[in-house]
Amino acid sequence: MSDTQVTYGSYLDIDGLLRLQRPQSKPEHPDELLFIVVHQASELWFKVILHELDRLIERLRATDAAGALAVMKRVNTLVGIVAHELTSLDTLPPHRFAQFRGYLGSSSGSQSAQFRAIEAVSGLRDAHFLNTIREHGDPPALVQRALERPTLQELFITLVEQSGAQLADLYRAEGSHDVLFLLAESLLEYEQAFARWRFGHVQLVERILGPDTGGTGGTLGARYLQRTISQRFFPELWKVRASFFAPPA
Ligand code: HEM
Repeated sequence: MSDTQVTYGSYLDIDGLLRLQRPQSKPEHPDELLFIVVHQASELWFKVILHELDRLIERLRATDAAGALAVMKRVNTLVGIVAHELTSLDTLPPHRFAQFRGYLGSSSGSQSAQFRAIEAVSGLRDAHFLNTIREHGDPPALVQRALERPTLQELFITLVEQSGAQLADLYRAEGSHDVLFLLAESLLEYEQAFARWRFGHVQLVERILGPDTGGTGGTLGARYLQRTISQRFFPELWKVRASFFAPPA
């Protein structure tokens, strides 16, 4: 069935979409549009990533490792895109950002509910993370729901155990758990891709603000962000590697 009344503009609500960029600087700073669009585009991708992570959880719960692997391939591509689009802001030199930064008020990426929800779904639960989200009052519903769910690591390990294996078996008994092995590796790739976003973002922040300038969110800026790079969604997947390099008994 096809409705000839539906057009590109109406289906995608292009008019509505293009009304959403509202630079605040007066007179309008020529670089503020890019700054807004990169943030908005990132939030749109975060929305798709969260949607795909829901599908991933569904597939893991249904013990469908091949389906989960297909979802992870998409998630990893999307995280790569979000990381890459940050590089467009390398064209924003510090003195020009300083000309409109004041118009952002106290807004800061650290208030992004979707970013926190992605971290929570993926598995962050440490005290530093929980403090960060509670800093702004009660966590948004999206984040709260994510915190109440098992982490991706827990779901994956349950799936591995249900198939009669342990994590290390996926690597030791090469060939006997092919799909689970590929899924384990693609979860690790997700962690790497996410860390690349963090690293690219810290570099961008240092490039624009310098290493010691505080953020609009009240943090120590790049110094605070540096510390977030070492956070892990899948500590067990990292740990299992060491078992191949244990000194002989
Ligand atoms: C001119 C470019 C940018 C600058 C100078 C910048 C600066 C900062 C700073 C200083 C922080 C630390 C929190 C604070 O005190 O504000 C931060 C956090 C954050 N920013 Fe940006 N940012 C930029 C671009 C972006 C873009 C394009 C995104 C995409 C959505 C983004 C998302 C985030 C997120 C999610 C956090 C929280 C990270 C965490 O706590 O791990 N930022 N940003």
